[in-house]
Amino acid sequence: MVSQDRVYQALASQRGAFLSGQQLSEQLGITRAAVWKAVEGLRRQGYDIEARSGRGYRLGGVGDGLGHRELEAYLSAPRENIHVLESVDSTNTYAKRLALEGAPDGTVVLADCQTGGRGRLGRSFQSPEGTGLYLSALWRPECSPEALFPLTALAAVAVCRAVERITEMRPGIKWPNDLVIRRKKVGGILTEMAMEHDSTQVDYVVLGIGINVHTAAFEGEVADMASSLEEQLETEISRPQLAAALVEELDTLRHTVLFQPTLWLEEYREACLNLGRTVQLIQGEKRTMAVAMNVDEQYGLMVRMMDGSHVMVRSGEVSVRGLYGYV
Ligand code: BTN
Repeated sequence: MVSQDRVYQALASQRGAFLSGQQLSEQLGITRAAVWKAVEGLRRQGYDIEARSGRGYRLGGVGDGLGHRELEAYLSAPRENIHVLESVDSTNTYAKRLALEGAPDGTVVLADCQTGGRGRLGRSFQSPEGTGLYLSALWRPECSPEALFPLTALAAVAVCRAVERITEMRPGIKWPNDLVIRRKKVGGILTEMAMEHDSTQVDYVVLGIGINVHTAAFEGEVADMASSLEEQLETEISRPQLAAALVEELDTLRHTVLFQPTLWLEEYREACLNLGRTVQLIQGEKRTMAVAMNVDEQYGLMVRMMDGSHVMVRSGEVSVRGLYGYV
């Protein structure tokens, strides 16, 4: 298995070019027979490896599988504490279970399918097998809950950056953190936090990110407003490539931006589709019209009410609905 992993990595790093059996054997310090055996083993697992006499072996594409091997092929450096699951109720729930068992800061949970994916405001998040990215990051930031006000909006910037890294196109953001392309929602973020016992400090926070990558059809009330990255960007996307880019952007957020949130403020403002537009503020049964004016340094939404007064809206208190399609 170790040889298979190393042969896979060597071929994947060539991005579709040939590597001879001799080169692989020298590079990995294993015999040519061991190279051949590893290639055969990988092929039996469904990897598309072409063998051509005189040229060697070539990987036909890293593919779309969400395994450790595929992820490592795209990560720029080895990364520990990534749990990859075939199916789970919810990656957020799973990450919270890991948190209670003492899992470290920076743990990531990824699943190919969720049977009980959860969204904001108690909604469900459709998570069919093999079509989306369902990822939760467990952080232990050692701070007050107030320091995490900007987190959920910053996570949306991390997703936009990851998408842009692999497609050169950037989604928009519906405040505070829905990912939107051409007025369709392509992903969302659910942040959950737990406090330390008898303390005002955060014990852990779980950042749950769901992105519709290939998902072609949605059921129920979201059917008209949801779509996928591939449908909206009209390009093929590899889930492990997107997952690796997202893990790296989240690491940057965790290490560099979280406690200097203004670093990504301009990017957020540029992506925020609500600014300058009329929004409907929804608080319980109450509906109020306003115009979204700006995003402040804590990523709150400054709105101008119809009487001309200005009000700061914080995520979690009020939900914002646009008037133009989903935005
Ligand atoms: C929303 O748009 O309301 C938020 C959706 C968040 C979905 C993600 S998928 C990964 C993680 N696990 C969950 O159960 N939910 C989040």
